[in-house]
Amino acid sequence: MSQTMTRHDLGSAVVYQIYIKSFCDSDGDGIGDLRGIESKLDYLQRLGVDYLWITPFFPSPQRDNGYDVSDYCAIDSVYGTMDDFDRLVAKADARGMGIMLDMVLCHTSRDHAWFQRALAGDERYQRYYILRDGRGSTGAGDPGEPPTNWQCAFGGSAWEWEPRLGKWYLHLHDVSQPDLDWTNPEVREQLANVVRFWKDRGVRGFRFDVINLISKPEVFEDDTEGLGRRLFADGPHVHEYLRELVDRAGIDGMITVGEMASTDLANCVRYTRPDDHELAMAFSFHHLKVDYRNGNKWELADPDIPRLRQIFREWQEGMQAGGGWNALFWNNHDQPRAISRFGGRGGAGLPDSSWEKVGKMLGICTHFMQGTPYIYQGEELGMTNPGYASIDEYRDVESKNYYRIMLDAGKSPAEALRVVNERSRDDGRTPMQWGSAAHGGFTTGEPWIGVAPNYTRVNAEVEEGVEGSMLEFYRKLVRLRKQLLAVSDGAVRFVEVGEGAPKVIAYLRELEDAPEGQPRRLLVLCSFDDEPCRVCLSGADVSLEDAERLLGNYDDAPTVDAASGAVALRPFEALVVALA
Ligand code: NOJ
Repeated sequence: MSQTMTRHDLGSAVVYQIYIKSFCDSDGDGIGDLRGIESKLDYLQRLGVDYLWITPFFPSPQRDNGYDVSDYCAIDSVYGTMDDFDRLVAKADARGMGIMLDMVLCHTSRDHAWFQRALAGDERYQRYYILRDGRGSTGAGDPGEPPTNWQCAFGGSAWEWEPRLGKWYLHLHDVSQPDLDWTNPEVREQLANVVRFWKDRGVRGFRFDVINLISKPEVFEDDTEGLGRRLFADGPHVHEYLRELVDRAGIDGMITVGEMASTDLANCVRYTRPDDHELAMAFSFHHLKVDYRNGNKWELADPDIPRLRQIFREWQEGMQAGGGWNALFWNNHDQPRAISRFGGRGGAGLPDSSWEKVGKMLGICTHFMQGTPYIYQGEELGMTNPGYASIDEYRDVESKNYYRIMLDAGKSPAEALRVVNERSRDDGRTPMQWGSAAHGGFTTGEPWIGVAPNYTRVNAEVEEGVEGSMLEFYRKLVRLRKQLLAVSDGAVRFVEVGEGAPKVIAYLRELEDAPEGQPRRLLVLCSFDDEPCRVCLSGADVSLEDAERLLGNYDDAPTVDAASGAVALRPFEALVVALA
């Protein structure tokens, strides 16, 4: 039975993302598993979260850590059994938490039976994938050149020549992840059955991996301006396919989120407007590219905060105006840790004082926005990038590919490592820091990837119950979203802060008909500046006079200049006030 989520339900829910491989290992093999998650349900319940999104645990050769699925309706033995899964669903449910699964429907692994049958010559399954002749091929056996100049996400051509097929196959990600052909109705039906299979096992929601890449262009041609992304993101039939999937799988009204790569606002409004019966909300990534140099992830730059403010404003106010709904997040398993990224100094070496201020400021910044917040494992503890000393400590296929690409382009090993240190997806994949025991208490064995060196200082054990710790602060963030209707249901409006505060993001949450005893207007101020600054709210119809401070990352309130009303914010200061 599926529950229809209202906007109030979505606005008061908080989702916690579990990267299963690094969350908790119950059997000492160095890899997290379902029983490990089960053992931490009390911790998650105390945090107050409503849904647990678990990253893929399906059988997989693990070339892309499980996003290369070889069987959609089974569990990889390294993660446990179907009984473990059913028990986890029931136990989470008993604690008021729903399980959300990660559906990787844009591509399979090469090891999937469908691709294997295609390779063996079965034409029915060859029609499941996107196979093309090479450019300039003289006929059978001659690959010619790749059909288009499109690049895959992890570096290199998006096409691979497969001699057994006598064709090139499209893979927008790793070479081991052939894209499925969604123009084939049988593929769409099979995938809807997969979603229904898990729904019938009690799953309460779904995250859909790169779901806006499922509809490829009608004509395959070179991208004359870039690497192809703009041609296959939000493709011609994507909305139609999504509506059909949602309808067939019977998941309309459930909590669903689409990962939207290189998307735009207009499409995300359509993906998430309830009347369109597609998804409940969307992840977009523009705010996490503000420290790319010229749009290139592998070129370091300081975060451009005015740009960040502009992006948040566009997506908050734009989704609201269009009737869409945002998923709010800083971190996930594909991103370096935001606390290291926006902390002013990068890497794992943040000094104590700003580490704590930055983490709490980032938490305030997104948790009070309109939408549904996601907490990525360890974010609530203030986990940072690990700053590994050698490329050999990295595991991720993308990091390894780009390290090589950077060396080939002339960077020294030290320069290339520095970039990987800041940009690797492994920055977010280090073992969860449960305590001060070896490997942060994640495993009794050898972890598949090394723990960040600060685990003795940043961990759940030392933060538990400590007033002012990051963990307690995150519990408060979750509580306030549920308590304050202006946060779950209110309108959002960004406010100008004047020239003295170029690195401050400020917005209002307003609920004119808030019931007695609830604030009608909240003001949120977040400084991304490692220097003090002066916020001038004179342009907005806002006064801090008689305002009540609800939350902040300093012990006391900032000083307000009586004459001008300007607020003096300290480095990385953030606060939430209820306006009179
Ligand atoms: C997005 C996932 O989050 C990422 O980890 C994966 O590599 C790609 N999609 C391909 O599935």
